[in-house]
Amino acid sequence: MPAVVLVGAQWGDEGKGKATDLLGDRVDYVVKFNGGNNAGHTVVIGDEKYALHLLPSGILSPGVTPVISNGVVVDIEVLFEELDGLIERGVDVSRLLVSQGAHVIAGYHRTVDKVTERFLGKRRIGTTGRGIGPAYADKINRVGLRVADLFDEKILAEKIEGALDQKNHLLVKVYNRRAIEVQETVDELLQHAERLRPMVADTGLALNQALDRGETVLFEGGQATMLDVDHGTYPFVTSSNATAGGAVTGSGVGPTRVDSVIGVVKAYTTRVGEGPFPTELFDDMGAYLQKAGGEFGVTTGRARRCGWYDAVISRYAARVNGLTDLVLTKLDVLTGLEKVPVCVAYDVDGERYDEMPIDQTAFHHAKPIYEELDGWWEDISRCRTFEDLPVNAQRYVRRLEEISGCRVSAIGVGPRRDEIIGIHDLIHARA
Ligand code: GDP
Ligand code: IMO
Ligand code: MG
Repeated sequence: MPAVVLVGAQWGDEGKGKATDLLGDRVDYVVKFNGGNNAGHTVVIGDEKYALHLLPSGILSPGVTPVISNGVVVDIEVLFEELDGLIERGVDVSRLLVSQGAHVIAGYHRTVDKVTERFLGKRRIGTTGRGIGPAYADKINRVGLRVADLFDEKILAEKIEGALDQKNHLLVKVYNRRAIEVQETVDELLQHAERLRPMVADTGLALNQALDRGETVLFEGGQATMLDVDHGTYPFVTSSNATAGGAVTGSGVGPTRVDSVIGVVKAYTTRVGEGPFPTELFDDMGAYLQKAGGEFGVTTGRARRCGWYDAVISRYAARVNGLTDLVLTKLDVLTGLEKVPVCVAYDVDGERYDEMPIDQTAFHHAKPIYEELDGWWEDISRCRTFEDLPVNAQRYVRRLEEISGCRVSAIGVGPRRDEIIGIHDLIHARA
């Protein structure tokens, strides 16, 4: 029975939340395996709109067990705020499982995130300020706090002391901030520990057992391929593995159990925060895409930078994730354009690149080489089969498939749950 991984194939906000929700009633478990409350997923069900950050989007599907696995960094205060918000709206959140091995974001991680960004000045990353990077840095530095530590106050205090040892020197002597007291952080974290306790589980074991029973597990990536700390546009990335491999290390389910990997792509491209973006538009067309696509961040409200579809990136995403299917979203946003350019390769200082340049400087210098496709005028939001689409929209999708090196299995034609065209079944056994 399938284990399905779903990841962003661009720089985030491709519509992963909607794609996960789409599969919701056919899966038994939905797992968030990386990132934290830096994510922002919008799901529109009928007239109801939900914004999810830390919780997997699958939490909205009745009967699904949502899981926050070991690869995630958890801000406990935010977790309960988000849960309470859903409970108020009548969503059943009682099945949520949280890994004992997930790392915990403390107040000092948020503080360090903000002061380092300020300190970096024009070299800043443009982080979400949620403490994500510093929490992962502590994990790698082996001074992190894990969910299991919350249930032993003595150990917790010792670990916080260890984590604050260097940080306080840095905060006081370099950043000119006040030192953080150990007890202050202990109190902050213990506030919600008892409420968390019943949700804590060996999620790796639970997921493997679910697969043994023949149940379906969906791994929902936060962020995206180009924001992955190994495969993205480093250093302008997030601090986790947002690519398909992250689903394995971030959950404790082995790679041989994964059947398919779905990449979600927008019919154009957006990016939030700093960093290179070859097809970015600085003219009226960029402003048009931003307005037509409602491109404002769900987490920070920042305007998203907009540009045309970049097939060099989607080919790269197909390769590093081993994509089996693409979900192409927001095709409706391109309706009404005379011509739609798509980037097929880059020109880097006079040299053509068909694949992602491996060095940072070359990528910064990459100029898109465009192919212009014919646009369409008809409203496509009511199309429910591929054949319902205007012929030029069909050609656009077919061309993206060719140049991206992966079949398109579903097409988003509007934000709502039902505004989707299904082409191939997204839940399938390994080919
Ligand atoms: P995520 O972070 O990948 O889950 O994506 P976000 O929720 O941050 O951003 C995607 C936005 O596009 C949300 O506002 C969705 O409601 C919206 N959306 C998703 N699919 C479609 C689509 O096919 N058409 C349109 N117009 N909007 C869509
Ligand atoms: P979803 O899951 C878009 C970006 C930030 C910043 C960089 C590092 O909604 O697609 P961080 O706070 O993670 O250390 O910031 O990564 N970023 C996202 N951009 N969508 C996201 O999530 C993002 N999560 C982080 O803007 O450039
Ligand atoms: Mg988002």
